[in-house]
Amino acid sequence: MDKHARYIGIWKEESKMENIINETIKYIKGIFEHDYSGHDFFHSLRVYKTAVEIAKYENANIYLVSLAALLHDVDDIKLSPKTHNKKDNAVAFMKKMNISQKDISTICEIIDSVSFKGFDTIKPSSIEAKCVQDADRLDALGAIGIARAFAYGGNHNRPIYDPDIKPIEEIGKEEYQNNTSTTINHFYEKLFKLKELMNTEYGTKIAVQREDFMRMFIKEFMLEWNGDNN
Ligand code: ADP
Ligand code: NI
Repeated sequence: MDKHARYIGIWKEESKMENIINETIKYIKGIFEHDYSGHDFFHSLRVYKTAVEIAKYENANIYLVSLAALLHDVDDIKLSPKTHNKKDNAVAFMKKMNISQKDISTICEIIDSVSFKGFDTIKPSSIEAKCVQDADRLDALGAIGIARAFAYGGNHNRPIYDPDIKPIEEIGKEEYQNNTSTTINHFYEKLFKLKELMNTEYGTKIAVQREDFMRMFIKEFMLEWNGDNN
């Protein structure tokens, strides 16, 4: 193959990939259009952008990372319990896009290892899954993490804060899913633990900054709650 033909080959592959990513973005926009539980379209889009950023540092496969990040919530156990196990939504979409069976399986494996389920969570073995998991966790931290936590709390009828309800520090999968605590407790039960669970150096660095910001928020929140800064 001459050099010219090889470049055209690469260019065709790249524009095919770009087309698949654009179609995936359109697909998830339709799915999450009316979600107000903290899992909206922009969450998936942010996870995608952050995951690609991490993937560049880690030399991971950007194509697999992009698709897994964009599709990571379309079969979420809370949003779509019936399709959760077999990832019916993600698989049907990827088949429609003529993605190879091998890539579909790899992407489904990445999605499976992403979710945080208390302490019995899976530590991903592939670098691609590590990137997506870190990106998903980072979106639960910082200013956006705070906004998402209270949106989720309101959506699930949880109190903002109640000094009589203490956080459950060691939380397993069952307790995590059935737990009806306050949103402030969620910071201690889940969000402040994420920093230690990061897989990548880049992810850890951002997590540290975002947790610092959240701790400042909690400090101010408690001052206001107790009337100490009036
Ligand atoms: P993921 O995006 O990894 O699927 P989750 O489904 O666990 O995350 O949570 C989605 C968002 O809702 C996150 O920002 C998370 O912090 C928040 N959230 C989950 N559970 C609670 C809870 N019990 N109280 C407040 N916020 C929560
Ligand atoms: Ni997510």
